[in-house]
Amino acid sequence: MIPETIHVPVNTMRQFMEEVFTKIGVPANEAKICADVLIASDLRGIESHGVQRLKMYYDRIKTGQQKAVTDFEIVRESPTTAVVDGHHGMGMVIGTRSMQMAIDKAKQYGMGSVAVRNSTHFGIDGYYARMAINQGLIGMSFTNARPSISPTFGVQPLLGTNPIAFGAPTDEDCPFLFDAATSIIQRGKVEVYNRIDKPIPPGWVTGADGKPMTNAAEILAALPKDKAALLPLGGPGEELSGYKGYGLATIVEILCASLQTGAYLSDLLGFDKNGNKQPFMVGHFFMAINIENFVDLETFKKTTGDILRTLRESTKVPGEDRIYTAGEKEYELEHIVPLEGIAVVPSIQKDIIAIQKELGLDYPFQI
Ligand SMILES: NC(=O)c1ccc[n+]([C@@H]2O[C@H](COP(=O)([O-])OP(=O)(O)OC[C@H]3O[C@@H](n4cnc5c(N)ncnc54)[C@H](O)[C@@H]3O)[C@@H](O)[C@H]2O)c1
Repeated sequence: MIPETIHVPVNTMRQFMEEVFTKIGVPANEAKICADVLIASDLRGIESHGVQRLKMYYDRIKTGQQKAVTDFEIVRESPTTAVVDGHHGMGMVIGTRSMQMAIDKAKQYGMGSVAVRNSTHFGIDGYYARMAINQGLIGMSFTNARPSISPTFGVQPLLGTNPIAFGAPTDEDCPFLFDAATSIIQRGKVEVYNRIDKPIPPGWVTGADGKPMTNAAEILAALPKDKAALLPLGGPGEELSGYKGYGLATIVEILCASLQTGAYLSDLLGFDKNGNKQPFMVGHFFMAINIENFVDLETFKKTTGDILRTLRESTKVPGEDRIYTAGEKEYELEHIVPLEGIAVVPSIQKDIIAIQKELGLDYPFQI
């Protein structure tokens, strides 16, 4: 019986994750990268993609849906572009190496973009856009994902939650970093609701009959059977412009699949026609823009900072005392989470205990 949420110091959790990845066969330097992406998510308050996902990667390596050792192959390259085959290795390793390639190309030639095939779940999209920001560039990152979103007027889950991340440096410490799924909620959030046994608000998920579904466990069971679908940004039908979210998710699918002759839509289910587990064949697309090819960096940062400040300082809805710009909430949490530790809810503690037992690890923190 695990009664309550505990808080684990960030460094302890990082060390534990590295140890888990290493024990299961990920080379030590790559285990560090994998842990860093997960920790970045917890630090930014995106609980669906941090320690909560550790068991998912662990299970997928065990079942052979992804490989612990990443064979990163550049299959096509020009000065500004590349196509990479990740051979079902670790998505975070494939993602960081591909984004760094895009950044290096942009530094040299003004722009760089890299399309990736045969990758696996790479965590938060914003991690990769942030890499570009940290090096003084604009960064964009896109990934497709397991089929979850139905098209407008449809009920079949076909598109992934296909997030878009866009980041730019500004003259403030907090960068502009937009990082969100193109569905109203991403799949991980359904998992969070399931873990805390909370109903999903009506309007986020549709059943095969076109009616809203609200039970998170039922939704998770129904999604792979085409009996439930997440709705695109804007919701069902055309009234609140659901077709705009549908269009954005399709753009991400095209960038992540069509530029690398890769898998798309239902190919990413993780099961073959006989219901056997198979790799997810995820695709990514990364882009970096060297600001200095357009304008000097300080001028760009000042203009961007002025845009963001104008938005934040504009007239507020009565009763609201703050307007945010993208990335602000997460940036603030990055300074709070290290003080409080990473929250681990009881169901994740159970996952951790199971992993610790299987791998024979010493308990790095007491549960
Ligand atoms: N790897 C995958 O397959 C996959 C798929 C889907 C989502 N994800 C990740 O899940 C994470 C969460 O996605 P999500 O769709 O739940 O995000 P979300 O709905 O929480 O939106 C987050 C974004 O909105 C901004 N934001 C939040 N409130 C705001 C406000 N009031 N004003 C202005 N901006 C505001 C945040 O700064 C952030 O950029 C992301 O990191 C995403 O990359 C990953």
